[in-house]
Amino acid sequence: MCGIVGYVGTEEAQDILLRGLKTLEYRGYDSVGVSIKSDDGIKLCKMSGRVAGLESYLEKNRISGLIGIGHTRWATHGGVSQMNSHPHASFSKKIHIVHNGIIENYADLKVFLQGKGFYFESETDSEVIAHLLEYYCCDNFFDGLIESLRHLTGVFAFAAMFGEEIYIAKKGSPIVVGHGLQEYIFSSDLSGLSGRARDVVFLEDGEIAVLRSSSCDFFSFSGEKIDKQFMEVNFDSSESLLEGYPHYMVKEIFQQAEVLERIIQNYIDKNSIAFSFMNPGCFSELKKIYIVACGTAYHAGLVGKSIIEGYSRISVEVVVASEFINNDPILEGNTLCILISQSGETMDTLFALRKAKSLGIYTLAIVNSRFSTISREADEVLYSLAGVEIAVASTKAYISQIGVLYLFAAYLSGYKRDLSEFLDTFRQLPRVLRETFCLDSQIEGLAERFSSKNKVFFIGRGLDYASAVEASLKLKEVSYISSEAYPAGELKHGTIALIDDQTLTIAISSQESLNSKMISNAKEVQARGGDVLFLGKSSSHDDFSTFETLILPEFDSMFAPFVTIVPLQLFAYYTSLKLGLDVDKPRNLAKSVTVE
Ligand code: AGP
Repeated sequence: MCGIVGYVGTEEAQDILLRGLKTLEYRGYDSVGVSIKSDDGIKLCKMSGRVAGLESYLEKNRISGLIGIGHTRWATHGGVSQMNSHPHASFSKKIHIVHNGIIENYADLKVFLQGKGFYFESETDSEVIAHLLEYYCCDNFFDGLIESLRHLTGVFAFAAMFGEEIYIAKKGSPIVVGHGLQEYIFSSDLSGLSGRARDVVFLEDGEIAVLRSSSCDFFSFSGEKIDKQFMEVNFDSSESLLEGYPHYMVKEIFQQAEVLERIIQNYIDKNSIAFSFMNPGCFSELKKIYIVACGTAYHAGLVGKSIIEGYSRISVEVVVASEFINNDPILEGNTLCILISQSGETMDTLFALRKAKSLGIYTLAIVNSRFSTISREADEVLYSLAGVEIAVASTKAYISQIGVLYLFAAYLSGYKRDLSEFLDTFRQLPRVLRETFCLDSQIEGLAERFSSKNKVFFIGRGLDYASAVEASLKLKEVSYISSEAYPAGELKHGTIALIDDQTLTIAISSQESLNSKMISNAKEVQARGGDVLFLGKSSSHDDFSTFETLILPEFDSMFAPFVTIVPLQLFAYYTSLKLGLDVDKPRNLAKSVTVE
């Protein structure tokens, strides 16, 4: 998703903007640019491609100035091109803007402005902001900004640089402002502040910030001055370093054991769950739980359904956020809506949260990013404690989400059953994950062997099916190989027609009671010429030794999702490397999808 940064202060803006843009690369983008006000006017430099390309150009063609804005673009309206990248300049070139979001009424505004003689250079929706500001700001910029905001429909966080000032307006997309030493810096998220500010403030929808080197003032969209307090945050930017790993994805895979240790340390107190809720009474006697999320977070919800229904016997429905918004859920008394989100900014999930609240449903957010919009708007929040996740393909965030969901299942039943055995097993998970890491070189070899397959199926039963769905997404995301997940018993009802010697079927079999059925399903695939990779436990290895196998460490099968996903995350990672792809920043993907 697009990222915006900006700076006004006493130091050269160019290097600060480039550093901020680099920290936002993980959000996913296809072009990049900056505008910097120098002594002889605002200089704009933008291009398709990576931040590194812009950086090497600017090293030879430095732009000197103490105020500037920057942007990484994830294309929505208009293809990937130099003209469509940001910043965009107004007709007179006196106003430069960067934008994250979608202006839904841009087409009407474009026609209106063209009718007034404005000429557009790009195909984007964002460019209308620059010309609209010019149209309304002829006398007084601030008044013109207020008037312009009355005409914009959609979701946006944009920054407009005019003279020695930067005006930021927020409605839907996130923006944070930092106050450093004689300087102000802003970004789409905390990492973009590049550690230059410890005192920050998050703009809310309908708010404006006006930044100068010596001051920062806040206003509502109607122009009234408002009072916002900067607060100190400790953002550990060191987590956004590779620390010796070749890529963020593999670093974050191997961080999963310590993530679980952090969850144990923070949320388990002897034999009870140490969640601190505002209204714990809302969780007693629940009749129905909705789990609502997108992508990997949705897959964590599938695991959450199994464990909450299995362990605490409460009915759970898992719904993709973009569908929940369109559905008309039947409310059955004491209902809870759990929203899961790594970034806490996913637009679909945020809108689902607002829908649940509008229906009077109590909301619990399981979020990784502190101070994020979803964490601030939900009634209750549990942080998943994964730490900063940079790779677009989510791994440690997934493990942390299912970790919190397992403990939430225990929390819901804690008052009526002894949790000691459950928690003792949970405490073993970091050790078991570290045993799984030892499969690394074998998995790399399997990825080498199967990276030429043009179709990969993941099959499993029960908890293993939930893992299969997440494993399939991981492979698709980073290798671009077509992949699907199926309940193992379902493959023979049609899809088995696709099996041939160009396909690979990965069978996940962690449940002893289902192992024989899984072996039968795998044999059905093998009999039709399909390759099979069988993930199983050593205790039943004799039964499936006819397949290519990956032997999992011994563990309690109720906790299978923690263990089975790790080898499949590594399989996806190594497959991507074998194919020579950008594993941390896969094509077309964004880390946080802040548009509908
Ligand atoms: C995960 O690998 C993907 N990058 C994507 O599916 C992601 O999980 C989804 O967009 C939800 O993001 P969130 O957890 O930040 O809400």
